[in-house]
Amino acid sequence: MNERIRNTTVIAVGNQKGGVGKTTNTIQIAGALAERGRKSLIIDLDMTSGATKALRAPTDGWISSFELLTGAENAEDTIITNDEPEVPLPPNIHLVPSSRKLAELDTFLAQNPWLIHQDLLIEPMNQLRGRYDYIFLDTPPQKTKTTIPALKVADYAVLSAMPDHLAVSALAEALSDIAAAQRHANAQLSLLGVILCAVPRPKTRLARELVAYVERTCVDADGQSLKFATEISRSVAVQEAQKAGQTLMQHQGDHPVADEYRALAKEFEERLNARRESLATTGEVAHA
Ligand SMILES: Nc1ncnc2c1ncn2[C@@H]1O[C@H](COP(=O)(O)OP(=O)(O)OP(=O)(O)O)[C@@H](O)[C@H]1O
Ligand SMILES: [Mg+2]
Repeated sequence: MNERIRNTTVIAVGNQKGGVGKTTNTIQIAGALAERGRKSLIIDLDMTSGATKALRAPTDGWISSFELLTGAENAEDTIITNDEPEVPLPPNIHLVPSSRKLAELDTFLAQNPWLIHQDLLIEPMNQLRGRYDYIFLDTPPQKTKTTIPALKVADYAVLSAMPDHLAVSALAEALSDIAAAQRHANAQLSLLGVILCAVPRPKTRLARELVAYVERTCVDADGQSLKFATEISRSVAVQEAQKAGQTLMQHQGDHPVADEYRALAKEFEERLNARRESLATTGEVAHA
């Protein structure tokens, strides 16, 4: 790869609750960032292969995130790029697919006691930083063996939430995990923001309650809300794009939800820039 060196930001996209838009938001934000000229790598760390399936990549028989985590392959060799004819990935999005082998990670670790579980992504990230503008770590629901190494290496965490009865308790748990990761493993980790997605229009009572909870609970040191102002509406267009293995920008680029993702990507980058500037002025060292 003979390309310029990029200033890579590693983002862990999480929430212990299943089906709250982690994978969808990862892919759609990467798609909207691609329109802004950014190059992203999505690493699928979920053994159910949500991102891999949504991008129509194989979940079997290919080198996957299992080999990346276990060091069986060079990180670079686990990546599906835009040059792979069998997997037509969206422009400027590369993928490390996941496979069912991830289910064997516990056994692998038990048999390889010198490997430190929470450090599994350190060497892969050392190899891959500089090649992408963004590396998105799409984590599984529950605090599994792949969420912990993701929070250890990420520069930022982004949480995803959808209005439903369990959303508030799941977010509370995710916030406490981020705090634990900051305390025990990665002092540089910070919560970039919370994405509210699949929001019904007009907003239901549940949706309004979730917004109020996030605005009250997820705040930065200055008391500013960490909720992204851009909320993503519920729409079948999102699922239709997923079925086609495309981003919404590719599939229905003039859809209002595609515009919401564009606005979210803009807000996401503005927030990142503001954080970088504030780190630079306070003299702190950004994640190396
Ligand atoms: N804005 C939206 N409008 C309608 N449906 C949506 C929207 N965003 C996500 N969905 C749907 O919600 C479901 C769950 O989304 P997704 O798979 O992204 O969640 P997840 O948190 O990654 O789930 P898991 O925990 O299983 O990995 C999917 O069927 C997806 O198509
Ligand atoms: Mg998922």
